[in-house]
Amino acid sequence: MNTLPASGAPTATPAEGALQNATGTEASSFAPACTPDGLALYYAHRAGEFEEAYRIPERKADLAQLADLLRELVAGERVLEVACGTGYWTQAMAATASTILATDINEPMLALARQRNYGRARVEFAAADAWHLEGRAGDFTTGASMFWWSHLPRSRISNFLTGFHACLQPGARVVFADHLPTDCRWMPPACVDAEGNTYQRRCLHSGEVFNIIKNYPDESEVRAALAGLATEVHYTRLANVWLLDYRAVVT
Ligand SMILES: C[S@@+](CC[C@H](N)C(=O)[O-])C[C@H]1O[C@@H](n2cnc3c(N)ncnc32)[C@H](O)[C@@H]1O
Repeated sequence: MNTLPASGAPTATPAEGALQNATGTEASSFAPACTPDGLALYYAHRAGEFEEAYRIPERKADLAQLADLLRELVAGERVLEVACGTGYWTQAMAATASTILATDINEPMLALARQRNYGRARVEFAAADAWHLEGRAGDFTTGASMFWWSHLPRSRISNFLTGFHACLQPGARVVFADHLPTDCRWMPPACVDAEGNTYQRRCLHSGEVFNIIKNYPDESEVRAALAGLATEVHYTRLANVWLLDYRAVVT
C-alpha cells in the first residue's frame, strides 16, 4: 500500500555511504535505509495501530498533564495543527479552542481523526504536507504540532518553522511537544546519518520494518533552533516529554 503523494517526505537525503549504525560500523545493505524519506509511508501503514502508543501505562500521567497544559494554551484560539495523526491532541485542544484546522499528509490518519467527537469546537481536517504549507495561511492565532519536531531533519528545522509561521497571524502562539530521550530508552538508535539525525528501527504488526528519523533534541538545541524565529519562549519538561510554546516571528 503506497497512498502517499510524491511530495510526502523531505527530500534531503544523506550522502550515500555516509550512514553508520549506532556502533559506528557500516549499515548492512539489506537493512531498511536510514533516510528521512520513509517517514510518511511508515505512518500511513501504522495508522491502525498508532494509538497503542497512547495506551502504555507509564505514559498516562504525562499525557494527562500535557493535555491540561495544551487546553490552557489554546483556549479561545483559532488553531492550525500540523501532523495531527489520529486526532488525539486535536480532541484535547477542541475542549477549549475556538476553531481547529487539523492537517496531516496521510489519509488513513485523517480518516481515523474524523471519527472522533470534538464537542462544540469547529474542527475541520485537510490533507497537507508539512513541508509544503503554502496555501494554508489563514487567520490562525495558534499553530500546534505534537510529536512532530523529533521527525524533523536537523538541517531543515528552520525551513519547516519558517513555512509554518508564514501560515499564522503575526505574533501567533506556537506549541510543540515531543519525547525526552528517557521516553524511548528502550528503543536505541539503529543508525545515525551524516548530519547527526538518529533513526529508530520500527516494526509494524504486519512485519514491515522501517528505520524512521527520531531525534531527541535537548532544551538548548530546541532554543537554538528558534533563534530569530520566536519570542517569549517557554520550555516545560515533564517526566518523559517536553512542551514548548512561544510567539512566532514571521520572517
Ligand atoms: C508521531 S505522529 C504524530 C501524530 C499526532 N500529532 C500525535 O501526536 O498523536 C507523526 C504524524 O506525522 C504525519 N506525517 C508524516 N510526514 C508528514 C508530512 N510530510 N506532512 C504532514 N504530516 C506528516 C504522520 O502521518 C503522523 O500522523
